[in-house]
Amino acid sequence: MSNAESVENIEQWVSSRKSDLLRRMSDVESRMARLDEWLADETATIRQAGSEAIPQLDWQEIASGRVSEKQRQMIRHRGCVIIRRVFARAQADEWNTRIADYIETNGYFEKAQARVGLDRYFSSLSAGRPQIFGLYWSKPQIEARQHENLDLTRRFLNGLWQVDRPDGGVEFDPDRQCNYADRLRRREPGDRSLGLSAHCDGGSIERWCDEGFQKVYADIFFGEVDRYDPFRAAGRTGTHEIPSPAVCSVFRTFQGWTALTPQGPGDGTLRLIPLARGMAWMLLRALQSDVAASDLCGAQAGRALAANPRWHQPLLAAEVSIPRVEPGDTVWWHPDVIHAVENEHLGQGESNVIYIGAAPMCAKNEQFLKRQAEAFLDGRSCPDFAAEDYEVDFENRARLADLTPLGRAQMGF
Ligand SMILES: [Fe+2]
Repeated sequence: MSNAESVENIEQWVSSRKSDLLRRMSDVESRMARLDEWLADETATIRQAGSEAIPQLDWQEIASGRVSEKQRQMIRHRGCVIIRRVFARAQADEWNTRIADYIETNGYFEKAQARVGLDRYFSSLSAGRPQIFGLYWSKPQIEARQHENLDLTRRFLNGLWQVDRPDGGVEFDPDRQCNYADRLRRREPGDRSLGLSAHCDGGSIERWCDEGFQKVYADIFFGEVDRYDPFRAAGRTGTHEIPSPAVCSVFRTFQGWTALTPQGPGDGTLRLIPLARGMAWMLLRALQSDVAASDLCGAQAGRALAANPRWHQPLLAAEVSIPRVEPGDTVWWHPDVIHAVENEHLGQGESNVIYIGAAPMCAKNEQFLKRQAEAFLDGRSCPDFAAEDYEVDFENRARLADLTPLGRAQMGF
């Protein structure tokens, strides 16, 4: 069977991989029935709890080792967590101001206009300015990524995974971080350009078709569906995604961001379906007899995997807004967790974040760090994103000398 990276005829590949899966599976209907029942229960609980369904911790609880096993289990169950006060509010405020200066003094808006053309780029933006910035190397981003409080936070998050592999090795090192250079969101009140419907990143049709993913999801397809554990890491760094700008090249235990401004429901911020095992339901749904042989409930190659009202309404019913967060708070979600961004920013202030996930050291991530390190030294865009390279001649961008010893290790130097 061909591998995701070398697929030419996608539709044919999906059809043949899907029929192959179904041939190897038994009782695809009863598996689904089991998960339908589970999802109905979970959804009822989540709808009642609303935003409170998302677990919350204070960073101090992690720092002082006071997080109980019950709390850890709840985070694993929900697949997401808000960790508050990772950074002091004054620190986050200061980063927010310095990022604004960096954007302003280096003429980012003018350069973005010149590069893409006013019409094409700004036509759909209500406020006439970009809301996501292709900036990777401002000093505040570097300072946040290499901060010791964040290191501790990510070690805690990585530690929620079970890293042992059947061959006796480990899938990744939970105590060593890779700093994946992601972008900035600065969303202005009134913005309607940035809404994202419910989706998950890091692979769409591959989740059914790629042999690596089939191993990760073996319990769902072939084993005992109740035994599927989204936090068992074995195989997770060995999946093959179809190369695309929509796909992240590193393995992340959690996607996440750090808030630089206060933001809550209505402020154009994040919504989550707080169920780590929601993916099991989604995978089996696409294998039921009412879905065409070449279809996986609308999943499209090279795009984010969308949860859509036609097929996934029972799952979408569990979507909730994150509670209000303050500058210095962080939000984290498992790579299988379905999430969305509110369509419109109805609030009063900017909702600004630095995207920083948790990417532990493993062979896959180490490979990526090599490519990323060169981009950093030259000030080019992170190689996972469009090669806009805005920062090549930006004043005051971070340099090698701005990395602490921890930061250097996290960047692969
Ligand atoms: Fe996403």
